[in-house]
Amino acid sequence: MTRYLITSALPYINGVKHLGNLVGSLLPADVFARFCRARGFETLALCATDEHGSTTELAAAEAGRDVRAFCDEQYALQKAAGDGFGLSWDHFGRSSNAPNIALTQHFARLLWRNGHLDVRTTKQVYSNADKRFLSDRYVVGTCPHCGYERARGDQCENCTRVLDPVDLINPRSAISGSPDIEIRDSTHLFLKQSTFVPQLRAWIDSHERDWPVLVTSIARKWLDEGLQDRGITRDVEWGVPVPDDIADGQLKGKVFYVWFDAPIEYIGCAQEWAEANGKGDAWRDWWIGPKSKDVVYCEFMGKDNIPFHTVGFPVTVMGARPQEDWKLVDRLKGFNYINFDGGKFSTSSKRGVFMDAALEILPADYWRYYLMANAPESSDSNFTWEHFAGQVNKDLADVLGNFVNRVTKFCGARFEGKVPSEGEYGDEEKALIEELDKRVGEYTQLFEAMEFRKALAELRAIFVTGNEYLTRAAPWTHVKTDRARAGAAVRMGLNLVHLFAHLAWPVIPTSARRIHQAIQDAPEVIPWPDEAMGDFLDDLEYGMAIGVPEVLFAKITDEQIADWRARFGGGG
Ligand code: MF3
Ligand code: ZN
Repeated sequence: MTRYLITSALPYINGVKHLGNLVGSLLPADVFARFCRARGFETLALCATDEHGSTTELAAAEAGRDVRAFCDEQYALQKAAGDGFGLSWDHFGRSSNAPNIALTQHFARLLWRNGHLDVRTTKQVYSNADKRFLSDRYVVGTCPHCGYERARGDQCENCTRVLDPVDLINPRSAISGSPDIEIRDSTHLFLKQSTFVPQLRAWIDSHERDWPVLVTSIARKWLDEGLQDRGITRDVEWGVPVPDDIADGQLKGKVFYVWFDAPIEYIGCAQEWAEANGKGDAWRDWWIGPKSKDVVYCEFMGKDNIPFHTVGFPVTVMGARPQEDWKLVDRLKGFNYINFDGGKFSTSSKRGVFMDAALEILPADYWRYYLMANAPESSDSNFTWEHFAGQVNKDLADVLGNFVNRVTKFCGARFEGKVPSEGEYGDEEKALIEELDKRVGEYTQLFEAMEFRKALAELRAIFVTGNEYLTRAAPWTHVKTDRARAGAAVRMGLNLVHLFAHLAWPVIPTSARRIHQAIQDAPEVIPWPDEAMGDFLDDLEYGMAIGVPEVLFAKITDEQIADWRARFGGGG
């Protein structure tokens, strides 16, 4: 039986993520994992913080904290934000934990033994004031092309030209501002990626049909532009140490580059999961060996991450062969960006809405629904307060919430709060069942295909179909003259409420459980309806007691929008 291994791009440790990060990897991974569990597949959903590198060192220094203590704090914040959003990871790990350190060193040793690593001497900027090597982006100076005075050593923000730190005029350290810098030789390990190009190309071609065009086109672009060998070590302190038995200790004191160790944490995290749950070596069966053949490995990420997952990490995996045959990704879902009122969401300039603040103003399901309904799949999408409020108010409050409320209340008022046993389904119901068979099938297929935006449009259409049926069936009109007819309509209405809870659970799990609880107790995982709609929609036991849920979705008011706009910015 197929098993699903699901990972989302590992969020950088520095700071709680914004809604763009959420919709670009964390949230769709969760929705898909829930969908897999609902269908009864064994599923392992993993995520972790991506902790190493100079960016973290500098963020910690800025916060006046020791780097490990800083990471501990930030990890706890991100874990809490994820839990608050209902991200149902089987494990949320850390790239700085022991399993990843051991695995990263293990992969490096295999790559070394297999002749895929070279030792090369490079020129690196060293800051005497800071007593450290500076990575390119931490050297600033005047751009030789446009004269912009605060250009970074990797790129000029003003004219967007790609730079080398040695190009800069009046270069200085971005950390201390000191111009006392010099160029020193530094030895590093290089992964000979260029020799993998034919193998990568064949592998990417083999996914021509099952990966989105966004993914294959970015992957091929990297290969077409000529794949460079990649330095996989750095002169920083906070990282996975390069072991002495590689290159006779020439790399003593250096660590692996963060983009080398972070993806290996996908594997390390599985080991953390096993250790945390007393599962021994079971984690291996997800990743390597005969049992891993049944595993479909799915990765979720934003488009900036695609090269590292179609080229970078796969080279690590391919380079460990033939001795070890770790899984390569099977299904790779990439996302465009979501903008915040026409501009970028930005962590560094704190622009947009961040996960913790989002939960302060509204429950997770409002965001989950809206973000998935507007997932930036075929192009970038745009968040505005007006659009957000409009869609939530209409789809969740007016259509779904109102439907559940109308049916359960009316049942309470006119049928003693019990599933009516009067009446039989007639032509109206048969037509509805036929339509829903089609729509639910379509919805399932869209989810399976990870076409989230379209899937949510279908979900909305299913809610609307139910609403329209109820309006036509009008039990409140018939109840006085034809109680049987009204009874059948209410019974159908209640069965629809039940169906909606099942279909909505992967997207809005908390609300779906509340809706389900109006009908009957909800299991932790609400299973996907496998049966034909004719059966599902006549499944509730006649005479069973029904509750009325509290208001499910409160409407967002103009006043709230004004408040939030003042607090977070963003027009429209
Ligand atoms: N931290 C990276 C980012 O947010 C993603 C790392 S994904 C991994 O862009 F594969 F490297 F773990
Ligand atoms: Zn410039």
